[in-house]
Amino acid sequence: MPERMMENTGQSMVPRHVAIIMDGNGRWAKARGLPRGFGHRKGVEAVRDAVKSAREFGIEYLTLYAFSSENWRRPEDEVNDLMGLLKIFIKRDLAELHSADVRIRIIGARDGLRSDILQLLLEAEETTKNNGGLVLVIAFNYGSRDEIARAVAKIAGDVAGGRLAASEILPETISHYLDTADIPDPDLLIRTSGEVRLSNFLMWQAAYSELVFIPEFWPDFDRKIFLQAIETYKGRERRFGAVGKADVGSKIAESI
Ligand code: FPP
Repeated sequence: MPERMMENTGQSMVPRHVAIIMDGNGRWAKARGLPRGFGHRKGVEAVRDAVKSAREFGIEYLTLYAFSSENWRRPEDEVNDLMGLLKIFIKRDLAELHSADVRIRIIGARDGLRSDILQLLLEAEETTKNNGGLVLVIAFNYGSRDEIARAVAKIAGDVAGGRLAASEILPETISHYLDTADIPDPDLLIRTSGEVRLSNFLMWQAAYSELVFIPEFWPDFDRKIFLQAIETYKGRERRFGAVGKADVGSKIAESI
């Protein structure tokens, strides 16, 4: 029997799409008197674990916020360190991810990326494009406002070119123009490190996501903590703007 059944994470209740803001690498390192880079290195190990757990739990999409469009404001050394870590991750792990049937998708702005990084990201997407297992979405040089602005510019171009009528612009149309066009909205969004904000991450897509904020720093995120976040999610009632099941029942009872 798959382990997820034994632990009562019944498949139907497992979120289809989990998105994670991996926060707290710097504080994890600082708490140990280490340079921030150590935290990021340990963070990559937590990424490997999270991918493994997501596959085991039967999650279909895992989106990780690896580098935001605002992270360019960090000191040059740290930016280079993060770029280097992503490069190492793809170089070292691509073959293993591919053989585990993982499909890699990259969201975020591609303009202005170093050509070696862009090349690697494109290669990772191309190599794994026919895989049917977990979809690992890496948000790199990503920011919601930037993504929405790029989508609006594309929409405006299509309207100006006569390919789209302004009257056809519905919420679904906007979703279709985002980087996440064919990816379902996240069911569960987790942020580590105790910070309670979205930081420009999937702001359109997370309109109805369940948000779970956990105190642990990202390098400490492991299978057990992941499972706890899923249990929290399972305890939530998702209403998507409608009324809860209990309320529907009582309304019917009142009207009889
Ligand atoms: C936030 O911690 C973390 C990041 C900005 C980067 C996350 C990147 C990785 C885990 C490594 C590379 C990613 C992949 C997918 C291989 P912080 O530095 O903001 O921590 P702080 O808030 O404590 O300073």
